Amino acid sequence: MDSICVQGGIALQGKVSIQGSKNAALPILAATLLVGERSFIRNCPRITDVYAMVSLLKAMGCQVNWQEQGIWVDSSRIQKSVMQSEAVRGMRSSLCLLGAMVGRCGSVVMEHPGGCVIGRRPIDLHLCALGQMGVEFEEEGGLLSASADRLCGACICLPKPSVGATENVILAAVMAEGDTVIEGAAREPEIVALCDYLCACGAWIRGAGTSCIRIRGGRTLYGTDFTVPADRIVAGTYLFACVAAGGNIFLEHAPGPDMGAVLEVAGRMGAKLCTSRDGIYVQAPSGPVSPGHVMTAPYPGFPTDLQSAALVAASLGEGTTLMEETIFENRFRVVGELCKMGASIELLDPGRVLVRGVETLQGACVEARELRGGAALVAAGLAARGETVVRGCPYIYRGYENICRDFRELGARIISA
Ligand code: UD1
Repeated sequence: MDSICVQGGIALQGKVSIQGSKNAALPILAATLLVGERSFIRNCPRITDVYAMVSLLKAMGCQVNWQEQGIWVDSSRIQKSVMQSEAVRGMRSSLCLLGAMVGRCGSVVMEHPGGCVIGRRPIDLHLCALGQMGVEFEEEGGLLSASADRLCGACICLPKPSVGATENVILAAVMAEGDTVIEGAAREPEIVALCDYLCACGAWIRGAGTSCIRIRGGRTLYGTDFTVPADRIVAGTYLFACVAAGGNIFLEHAPGPDMGAVLEVAGRMGAKLCTSRDGIYVQAPSGPVSPGHVMTAPYPGFPTDLQSAALVAASLGEGTTLMEETIFENRFRVVGELCKMGASIELLDPGRVLVRGVETLQGACVEARELRGGAALVAAGLAARGETVVRGCPYIYRGYENICRDFRELGARIISA
């Protein structure tokens, strides 16, 4: 199932239910390690990144059982093991296990974590912040060892609001002696979800969702039943697909209040949007217009993970769009593939592209090179005339449960092959 085949040019119609959030589920699964009891995590997406995290939890001695509604994780018996597998190399979120394992066991040895090929993705902020809490690191032969004789709360000032570093500090801090304050914390909704889960387990955390988070360490944690929120990035991908392909759709469970910047850009393109507690209703414009200047930024700014989906819609938007990527280098890998489909996108420099809207895209054979860019190519295929074949789809399955089923719900002609 390496390819997805789309017959484009059909406007999207109908309702699709938005899956649980990948970026919330992964750190929450890592956090189950801290609890030492059974947790039931509902609405956990069935995606390959979650399967990789589950295999790492199992390798550390957790009992994990999938049920229809979610996943049981029992972390009462943990064994220290060297985390050295494709699951670590291929998935940057395995880095969360650093804070979680140091918190639970005092030490961990793991391979340098991987992730999508979107720039250097250093881990200096993680190491520096955990170092301030008493964690010592050694790197040898591609293995990273972390250990702390005493894990202590600290006042940590992050020079960049890194999502992963904020999560790692929170995970370590709930187990540390004393209080931790994170200044310059990431404010993403997924941080809030992680803190909600930990608080439901008995942790004391205040300020999640703001740039200053306070954590009181050393409280006893208990297993709990928790529901992962819907994925704002999946919802945004489908929203921009609809803006590009046309139609009227309802994104059931889409977290409208967390998607302000996304809705604002889609609105500038002419989409009519109506947000309720149940989801987001989208009415695409008959022909999208350029959103002007779009710049990615940490939350609450426009998410880097939706930059490529927005690029697809902007490619069909009347006028000229300047798209600026400020979070990751090398995140315009999709541009060459979109140009094969007839888009007019000029790379001004590694962080900026200029898009001149064209009337139509044509189906083509294109290659997914990373998760979000791959999903954007599927969206482009829906909007294009004729047939598009997207290869390299395992990237897409890292984050989308079943993108073909979802778009079929919306009337698209799309199959995996
Ligand atoms: C998370 C998300 C990813 C999203 C990204 C930004 C998960 C599983 N992944 O990734 O989907 O695109 O947030 O919203 O939640 N940085 C450093 N040093 C570090 C760590 C990060 O310089 O030690 C830099 C990065 O290179 C990047 C910026 O900080 O330029 C933000 O990265 P970060 O927020 O850490 O992204 P991730 O947590 O990896």
